[in-house]
Amino acid sequence: MSSFRDDILRGQVALVTGGGSGIGAGIAEALAAHGAQVAICGRTQAKVDAVAERIVAAGGESLALAADVRRPEALAAVMTAIEARWGRLDILVNAAAGNFLAPAAALSANGFGTVVDIDLKGTFNACKAALPLLQVRGGSVVNVSATLHYAGTPLQVHAASAKAGIDAMTRTLAVEWGPAQIRVNALAPGPIAGTEGMERLAPPQARARMTAQIPLRRFGTIAEIAEAALFLTAPASAYMTGAVLVVDGGQWLAGTNFLALLAE
Ligand code: COA
Repeated sequence: MSSFRDDILRGQVALVTGGGSGIGAGIAEALAAHGAQVAICGRTQAKVDAVAERIVAAGGESLALAADVRRPEALAAVMTAIEARWGRLDILVNAAAGNFLAPAAALSANGFGTVVDIDLKGTFNACKAALPLLQVRGGSVVNVSATLHYAGTPLQVHAASAKAGIDAMTRTLAVEWGPAQIRVNALAPGPIAGTEGMERLAPPQARARMTAQIPLRRFGTIAEIAEAALFLTAPASAYMTGAVLVVDGGQWLAGTNFLALLAE
């Protein structure tokens, strides 16, 4: 059950990258449930189609587009399709990400670069492609970050470096695009149940120990991250820009660098 009124985003058009699964899909469905018309892009057409079908079945409006955020020309085509369908864009959520566990010593240049290309450069590519539409009326950008880079998280040099860059980009774009009334904030989830990220990063045998180290003693839910994204796109956060909103049950503050368990 959401804490926000279900018409809070009525009349707004949103794009969610990486919207075909996990946190991106959850955010896309939440934006639509609160009145937004939602375009979803991801690498796999069938995955974005499935999310769009769920949105339409729930009474919303959606457009599913296959696009890899590593390809600026694919994002340009996404913007063209959104403009043709709805004539505007108000909200961009950058949720596309790639990750895996690898010690830096075993990570190839291409492995490091691939994650930076998807997470960091992909976020820039989408922001840049969306700018012409966002600046017509102003809008809101939400970049999905992480808490990996607040401490030294082993096995995550690629993702931590990319997410640190996303935080820096969030602050810079907030300053550059504020005068155009485009707010740019980041959302930093902690361990979230039911996501591909957690499947990849938290092997089942480590989960009980991980949970014991989180102050709120549980993983978060996709719905809780979607609520935070709603807050960052809603009028409730109208004077916030350049912020990083951490939604992690207190995990990083407790100094629980739990991937260290895996590195041992
Ligand atoms: N350990 C070490 N290196 C790895 C790896 C792993 N588990 N997985 C991929 N790599 C390396 C590859 O070896 C390759 O480097 P190389 O050419 O030097 O061998 C490089 O990363 C690119 O891999 P590739 O599989 O060609 O990339 P891709 O574009 O098909 O896939 C990934 C991108 C690697 C990020 C893939 O994990 C992915 O698609 N992830 C999306 C979903 C996801 O991660 N969600 C969770 C988000 S938190």
